Amino acid sequence: MKFSQDFLWGGSIAAHQTEGAFDQDGKGLGIMDLLTSGSYLRPREITKEIESGKRYPSHEGIDFYHRYKEDIRLFADMGFKALRISIDWSRIFPNGDDVQPNQQGIQFYSDLVDELLKYGIEPIVTLYHFEMPMAIVEKYDTWKNRATIDLYLRFCQVMGEALKGRVKYWITFNEMNHIDPKTEVSDIFTYILAGLKNSEIEEPQKTLAVISYNMTLASVKAVKLLHDLDPKNEVGCVFGLTPSYPKTCQPENMLKSFQDTLQEFYQIDAMVGGRFPKYKLFEYQKMGITLDYLDENQPAFAEGKIDFIGLNYYMSAVSTIKERSDQEGAFFGGELNPYLEKSEWGWSIDSVGLRYLLNFVYHKYHLPIMICENGLGAEDIPSKDGTINDDYRIDYLQKHLSELKKAIFEDGVECFGYLMWGPIDLISATTGEMKKRYGFIYVNKHDDGSGDLSRVPKKSYYWYRDMISTQGVNL
Ligand code: BG6
Repeated sequence: MKFSQDFLWGGSIAAHQTEGAFDQDGKGLGIMDLLTSGSYLRPREITKEIESGKRYPSHEGIDFYHRYKEDIRLFADMGFKALRISIDWSRIFPNGDDVQPNQQGIQFYSDLVDELLKYGIEPIVTLYHFEMPMAIVEKYDTWKNRATIDLYLRFCQVMGEALKGRVKYWITFNEMNHIDPKTEVSDIFTYILAGLKNSEIEEPQKTLAVISYNMTLASVKAVKLLHDLDPKNEVGCVFGLTPSYPKTCQPENMLKSFQDTLQEFYQIDAMVGGRFPKYKLFEYQKMGITLDYLDENQPAFAEGKIDFIGLNYYMSAVSTIKERSDQEGAFFGGELNPYLEKSEWGWSIDSVGLRYLLNFVYHKYHLPIMICENGLGAEDIPSKDGTINDDYRIDYLQKHLSELKKAIFEDGVECFGYLMWGPIDLISATTGEMKKRYGFIYVNKHDDGSGDLSRVPKKSYYWYRDMISTQGVNL
């Protein structure tokens, strides 16, 4: 069995993790420019301003800003049909509310898109992948303020017009689902999504509910805007989802795993169902939270339904009603699964979980799905001859893609693309490391700042190239 000719094989990257050039050509300071490098055990530090002596990985990234032509040629040689990029909002509106957008920023993305199209690579554009201008946090109080929605929509309008006819697939937000008043989130998640440390927020539950609601509203409004701008636009939103399994078949554990899995689905419900879900408002009510302007906003939800669902999948978790457990915790809560191996960064590796999640989401919404991220972060050590034999990554991909194939060909799930994260080594979002490498292409850059940024295809590069050219027949 083969994947269809038009299946979107490719990869996914984000501006703040690759571009660098953080202060060039009129770019303003973005929230990610104030995150230092960290590690698995040492959290990234969030600073109020750039402090000397500290390392801020986004400042140089992998220098994609200057090297994108070389990188895209390597992707093209691999046979990529699609590349997901993000547009850094702070490159277009350096102060968030500038009267005119920064033309140099627009030009960069216009050239980048042209370069992709030159090779027949479909650009898939994310409009918010953690890249909010810092000025919006400072002047407007980030997503707490409804004015931020209008600033975001203006940015979407500018980029929608600039890339009209060249970009068909748009993604309004990446992983806004990690903002949820009921989930205990660490500072890094509220920071990357809204520029705020969870531990410093007053009335955190109410504030997170407002932020999440406003982001959801911004997304549905952006969907309508992009549809109005060009009826050919296909607009989706990307969610990072972690299916959870019951620890035992005890009914209470089953119920818990169902609730844990669905905890971060309410924004998808809003974007597909055309209204902010009543069960979530009920949950807020029980927490003493009321949201304003619900009736006034209702038409926006009805008019801004998404065309497809973007899924980021890295791991599954285990749910149990037992309060205390000896098991090591999973990254997004719950427990680690003793049946599964985990990565060097403690993320469980579960290829079957991908098939499960695809089925779960498809049966719930009946909308086409694009896998927007999936991959293995690992430490790659080049051999003496300079080659990088990342058999573990090939094994990971082989297993995940064969589960994807089953989901499509055995289960009937409509999935039209697989964008591996990140096809070229880039800065890790949660740890700020280079050492946590995902790529098919090795980037000679290290956490101590050394390395000449040269690019070297790894063994997995050739594996993925062959898999694309044979349309996955051997999976
Ligand atoms: C996703 C994000 O949640 O996880 C990416 O959208 C991120 O930006 C990816 O890079 C992997 O996480 P990390 O921390 O390993 O980079």
